[in-house]
Amino acid sequence: MKKIALLTSGGDAPGMNAAVRSIVRMGIYSGLEVVGIQRGFSGLLEGDFHPLAVGSVADIIHRGGTILLTARSEEFLTEEGQKKAVEKAQENQIDGLVVIGGNGSLRGALVLNKLGLPTIGIPGTIDNDVARTEYTIGFDTAVNTVVEAINKIRDTATSHERIFVLEVMGRHSGQLTLMAGIAGGAESLLIPEHPWSMDEVVNKILRGRKRGKKHSIILVAEGVGSAFEVSREITRLTGLETRVMILGHIQRGGTPTAFDRMLASRMGGKAVELLMRGMKGLMVGIVGNRICTFDLEAVLQEEKSIDLEVYCLAGILSI
Ligand code: F6P
Repeated sequence: MKKIALLTSGGDAPGMNAAVRSIVRMGIYSGLEVVGIQRGFSGLLEGDFHPLAVGSVADIIHRGGTILLTARSEEFLTEEGQKKAVEKAQENQIDGLVVIGGNGSLRGALVLNKLGLPTIGIPGTIDNDVARTEYTIGFDTAVNTVVEAINKIRDTATSHERIFVLEVMGRHSGQLTLMAGIAGGAESLLIPEHPWSMDEVVNKILRGRKRGKKHSIILVAEGVGSAFEVSREITRLTGLETRVMILGHIQRGGTPTAFDRMLASRMGGKAVELLMRGMKGLMVGIVGNRICTFDLEAVLQEEKSIDLEVYCLAGILSI
């Protein structure tokens, strides 16, 4: 292994830069040439390669987003595109690749690995929907962003004695909604992994009102449906005033938390170590605060489940 490349792909996530920094520095420390590919798999297809030096990743550990830029590539989804990607890597004497991204990007990493380019995946997505690993890079920061939003909304919700319905990102996953809902003290959490009923949501609101509670904050994971529809239904059933907040891409930005920086630094270092040891087709993850490796194909065949105990606790704490 003489030369490795890295790319970030799919939705950006805070902490990706810390992972880039770690891969570059661990690579150089280990005597490798390190090349950054811009705009994910699109950049790989276009040969958008840039040699990275120790200094080129200075002052990025605290920055959200990704200095390598990211994109979703249509061409890479085709068989020809995938073959072309491997050829481009070979033309540039790339011996190994690290892909940082969510499930879609990791699927791309697996394809490249199968086509003969030794590849390691690092889970980076605010959704925390990648199986086996307890955390993905960016999730902790996004949880904190949502909690901060809940704190602010709570002030105005209380002052106006209103109900707020907040739509939280996560694609098909409710992980972000669940964690932010518990930490933010939301009244109800609607997630795609668990059945919920509007009657329960409404009864909880009305019980709270009877006790003199001034506000209600309902979190709706985007995978459940539209927060506007939930809000309309609540107003129809209770006659109470509701407001909707779509938190949107705010959840993807911001300076990464110390947790995400640590996680990304550890995962990045491990990915380089694996390539140096001739290992490939693996994903780096974290379980019980230990960095672990998993077979990439096995990870992608599994769906991450919700911690039911935590979900039930959320219900109890918001009675
Ligand atoms: O996967 C990260 C994520 O932010 C999801 O939570 C969301 O569904 C999706 O990406 C939004 O994608 P885009 O930025 O392409 O609109």
